[in-house]
Amino acid sequence: MASKGFSRSRSLQQKAHRIIPGGSHTYAKGDDQFPEQAPGFIVRGKGCHVWDLDGNEFIEYGMGLRAVTLGHAFEPVVEAAHKQMILGLNFSRPAKLEVDLAESFLELIDGADMVKFAKNGSDVTTAAVKLARAFTGRDLVAICGDQPFFSTDDWFIGSMEMNAGVPKAIIDMTLKFRYNDLPSLEELIRKHQGQIACVLLEAEAMFPPAAGYLEAVRKLCKEQGIVLIFDEMITGFRWHLGGAQKFHGVTPDLSTFGKAMGNGFAISALAGKRELMRLGGIDHDQPRVFLLSTTHGAENHALAVALETIRVYRENDVVGYLWRQGERLKGLVNRSILENRLNGHFEILGRPCNLVFATHDRNRQPSQAFRTLFMQELIRRGVIAPSFVVSYSHSDADIDRTAEAVFEAHRVYRLALDEGIEKYLAGRPVKPVNRRFN
Ligand SMILES: Cc1ncc(COP(=O)(O)O)c(C=O)c1O
Repeated sequence: MASKGFSRSRSLQQKAHRIIPGGSHTYAKGDDQFPEQAPGFIVRGKGCHVWDLDGNEFIEYGMGLRAVTLGHAFEPVVEAAHKQMILGLNFSRPAKLEVDLAESFLELIDGADMVKFAKNGSDVTTAAVKLARAFTGRDLVAICGDQPFFSTDDWFIGSMEMNAGVPKAIIDMTLKFRYNDLPSLEELIRKHQGQIACVLLEAEAMFPPAAGYLEAVRKLCKEQGIVLIFDEMITGFRWHLGGAQKFHGVTPDLSTFGKAMGNGFAISALAGKRELMRLGGIDHDQPRVFLLSTTHGAENHALAVALETIRVYRENDVVGYLWRQGERLKGLVNRSILENRLNGHFEILGRPCNLVFATHDRNRQPSQAFRTLFMQELIRRGVIAPSFVVSYSHSDADIDRTAEAVFEAHRVYRLALDEGIEKYLAGRPVKPVNRRFN
């Protein structure tokens, strides 16, 4: 419960905004993403529990932007990191671990022959785009416009509302198609015949693919000489240990992973077919592709952590657990929706391993104010939930406690629908990250 108030957080927030643009280093963690009555800073976490600067304890969801899938300070992972740290982190030749992890990773990803590791998801989606351009000799990139994020680099940021600073020439090279709408992709390809290097999408995000959709995208790309890239940053290690590509049985040419593979440590991967990946190597006669070469790319403790994370996933059916706990939570939230008469006003969406919620106002229109109110009421009851994305550390007891908090938050939601939200919301509503002006 947030019974200790937020006074320490409040005063540190002022300093944070004075010395850090936005007051934090990740937009999704920013003050504009949370209610005013929310913890400003977290000081420690264990499992799915966190403690804020004022000493309040919370159950957390979507930990580390969906990266911390096993749990905060998960002991086998921390031990693996520590064991490696005392052996050294970064040498002048590759570490043996680089090969060990490559081997272990490629055992999981059926259609991939080679892999390269980096630190952030953005590094690897950008590398995939560059490799596709080099391989095809084409400049244009087709991305799924219904999916929110692929990279911090200009080729993607140029396609957002918040694209100040990206040159128009770069903006013009990224085109958008719609998910589950094959004609929208066909039309793009027709309009830019022979110019599209790659099609990039998450095989699945909020909604499942329509029957045959991914297969048709696969076939179209093959026919048109376009490189198909699946972004598995969220789906990887969550839908299936072999990614959404395994779950749906469709193999892309390249795929990118990050987040869950390091349980919060910085590591990402570009995996794919040899004929493409080898262009980043030193044994071919084509123009060389600068494919992921960074000072910290193979930081040894992150590699050791990824190896250990894969071991834990394999030995414990972590993915099965995520699906089961998500299903349990979804059932309880849906019951609360019924009991509080919130049908059409509150919705739980997505696969059980990756649940989010949608909030609608009295007129059933999407509402940031009601999102804020719901989060505010959960925080009051000891739950931080920008989503309902569970981890391997969310026990039955945590899910039950969450469900109780959801029921009470829904009760207030109903009152706010009936009596006006102004009476219940303390402060301004949250705003989407992707907006042009403040
Ligand atoms: C689907 C997807 N792709 C790529 C990225 C970028 O990853 P990173 O933030 O590690 O650079 C994200 C980040 O949220 C993501 O959700």
